[in-house]
Amino acid sequence: MTELASKLDDVTQRFAAAVDRANDEQALESVRVAYLGRNGEVTAVRRAIGALPPGERPEAGRVINDAVAAMERRLQAAHGELESRAFDAELAASIDVTFPSIRRPAGSIHPVRRIIEESCAYFVRHGFAVVVGPEAEPDYYTFDALNIPSDHPAREGFDSFWISDTLLLRPHTSPMQIRTMQQHRPPIAIVAPGKCFRRDAVDARHLFQFHQVEGLLVAEGINFGHLKGMLTGLCRELFGAQQNVRFRPSYFPFTEPSAEVDTTCPKCKGTGLLGSQSCNMCGGSAWIELGGAGMVHPSVLTEVGYDPDRYSGWAFGFGVERLGLTRYEVDDIRRFTKSDPNFLAQLS
Ligand code: PHE
Repeated sequence: MTELASKLDDVTQRFAAAVDRANDEQALESVRVAYLGRNGEVTAVRRAIGALPPGERPEAGRVINDAVAAMERRLQAAHGELESRAFDAELAASIDVTFPSIRRPAGSIHPVRRIIEESCAYFVRHGFAVVVGPEAEPDYYTFDALNIPSDHPAREGFDSFWISDTLLLRPHTSPMQIRTMQQHRPPIAIVAPGKCFRRDAVDARHLFQFHQVEGLLVAEGINFGHLKGMLTGLCRELFGAQQNVRFRPSYFPFTEPSAEVDTTCPKCKGTGLLGSQSCNMCGGSAWIELGGAGMVHPSVLTEVGYDPDRYSGWAFGFGVERLGLTRYEVDDIRRFTKSDPNFLAQLS
């Protein structure tokens, strides 16, 4: 019996060492066959029972069975360990926690909106209110009240989308001058951004739907110098501290005098030159056109019930997409309508 026990001891010790060495399923299976298989080492020990006195045989069988059960548990544990090691290796191979994460594409403020917001912020800082109004307007606000009666040739300059005989998509934001003045007594100071519509053929510099920013200041003692000062400030806000403005005589029925407003070309810094070439932004003229402006016409003040002998005011209207062409050095105004994420990301 002691001989059998020490033999069993030897077998289980060598078995344990072999299991520890086995580092894959195949090696483990070979160990199982070598020790617990039909012709394995344990079977050889079991055969030795026959040589024992009959009284010792049951005890010897029990000891061997216990040893076999322990060996089988050991094998089971080794299987589990190999499996979890394989799983860890797979994880390590497929997940790299130091790998940089994917950057989610973030949107940005559209350049048209940005220019509107910055323009409004500038005027709000100077005490102006922001007002918005309808995009479909009666002809009264669009034309008649702005000193453009129905037979006036200036109407042809506003080739409009008419909804009915008297209702149209506004071709400018100037109707907001009338709406504001009819609702408030002077002094008033407003900025009115919004969408406008004209039946223009679309090309690199024209859209049939675009945005304007309108400004209006009416109070006692307002003069053209105030207009020039505010617009110079606006251009410096949008294009940089070096900007200047100039006024060219022009005509609008609702302002007198009227002017087209230009600002120094921000690309060539008002020189008209880029190196030895003429500037491709301003065509070498050194100036960029922004829009119209002027002193509010006395007929308009009278129409809204303001006394033109007591009050005076200035107004201007700028095209936002046109400002965008210059500010962002864009070659084609249609880009502002295309929502191309690559284009927008470049400008943000
Ligand atoms: N409403 C004019 C236009 O769209 C611009 C303008 C506004 C001119 C205010 C003078 C004063 O062309």
